[in-house]
Amino acid sequence: MALLDGKVALVTGAAGSIGSETALALAEQGARVVLTDLRAPELSAVTERLKSQGHDVACKAGDITSEDDIRAVVDFAVGTFGGVDVLDNNAGATGFSSRDLDIPDMPVELWDQVQSINARGPMLFCKYAIPSMLARGGGSIVNISSGQSLSGDVSNFAYASSKAAVNALTRHLATAYSPKGVRVNAIAAGLIIQPGMEQRLPAHIQEIFLSHCLVPRLGTPRDIANMVVFLASDLSSYVTGQILSVDGGFTAHLPSVADMRPIIEGMRKAPGQWT
Ligand SMILES: NC(=O)c1ccc[n+]([C@@H]2O[C@H](COP(=O)([O-])OP(=O)(O)OC[C@H]3O[C@@H](n4cnc5c(N)ncnc54)[C@H](O)[C@@H]3O)[C@@H](O)[C@H]2O)c1
Repeated sequence: MALLDGKVALVTGAAGSIGSETALALAEQGARVVLTDLRAPELSAVTERLKSQGHDVACKAGDITSEDDIRAVVDFAVGTFGGVDVLDNNAGATGFSSRDLDIPDMPVELWDQVQSINARGPMLFCKYAIPSMLARGGGSIVNISSGQSLSGDVSNFAYASSKAAVNALTRHLATAYSPKGVRVNAIAAGLIIQPGMEQRLPAHIQEIFLSHCLVPRLGTPRDIANMVVFLASDLSSYVTGQILSVDGGFTAHLPSVADMRPIIEGMRKAPGQWT
């Protein structure tokens, strides 16, 4: 028996790198999966690929900034598979970082668009999916947040603020709905390398991230997908209201560790001396 036999999962941003891998991982564990994304052709291609692998999946395109579209996607899941047990709020405003650089120069339209995709969208998916979960006796919501919501940085102001809103939404919904059987958690993802990104991300940038990762590699979409499967399944039935970092330990240590590592190594070789 697979972990998610009999469950229906809804994955947003399912045409993207992490979303498509998560839809596959959920289906591999026996879930019937509804995939949704703004990009209809890419969404259809991912869905057809999963179908060709024998998985019971369906898709409906929609814009997460539209309440009507979100209602239609949840209605589609209920109409196609009978309800929603798992909601993976994964769609994200990932293409704005080159303009999300500072507050004095912040185009207010950019701020509003990022909040609308990253914070308002997940809230609306919860608004329409929770009643179905309650009718089925419970469910699991997994919100894909980011390590950027947990610490300060010199860019990505709108993005980080929107993910911090998702963290608060997670804790509030968990508090309100866990007693009724709906668990709500968030994953604070670290840098996740998408197919082809190794070439686009310069080596010296990769080195910066690697020097701060305790697990000595960059993250992959499957790392996030595996945590979604765990949080979706009954294996995590005592876990709710958590913001779980999946980042190879990037945010688990003092900021000085990468710089101090060679100094401490030197001290081990010559005790009592700062090198
Ligand atoms: N890749 C990383 O390093 C990383 C790190 C931390 C958090 N995250 C988060 O993980 C999630 C997935 O990101 P990814 O790396 O797979 O990026 P991605 O760009 O491959 O996927 C994001 C998906 O969201 C969809 N989307 C964007 N706007 C939409 C809209 N208006 N309506 C419907 N769908 C829309 C896109 O079409 C895309 O398919 C995002 O929430 C992102 O913020 C990613």
